Amino acid sequence: MQAAQQVRLRARARFSNFQVGAALEGAGGAVYTGCNVENATYGLTVCAERVAVWKALSEGETRFRRIAVVADTDSLTPPCGACRQILWEFCGDIEILLANLEGKTETLRLSSLFPRPFDVSFLEE
Ligand code: THU
Repeated sequence: MQAAQQVRLRARARFSNFQVGAALEGAGGAVYTGCNVENATYGLTVCAERVAVWKALSEGETRFRRIAVVADTDSLTPPCGACRQILWEFCGDIEILLANLEGKTETLRLSSLFPRPFDVSFLEE
């Protein structure tokens, strides 16, 4: 949670002014952080969660425990649809910890946010 809160401050969010931080924990306890990165095309924006996943995968991590997501909203900010897909495919049914800057938190499983996923299992049928 602390790592997600810290990395949130590195968000490149000049277009939305909406800063998000994520911290993804591997099975062995290593933590991979990510912030959202926007650019002038808008459409190439990458969310904090996906930055954390790409960093972890490129470092060789293959198994995951949980991900923390921090944003400055009263209603806790959940991963967007694209991130849910990527988290499902690369991290499985991990625990998701949501938090805001006031200390409000919620813990849930990805499967409750993403109940009927499309994934590689369909391609193998
Ligand atoms: N964003 C994230 O980084 N993660 C989320 O869970 C929701 C949205 C980013 C994308 C964009 O830079 C900004 O927040 C506004 O949508």
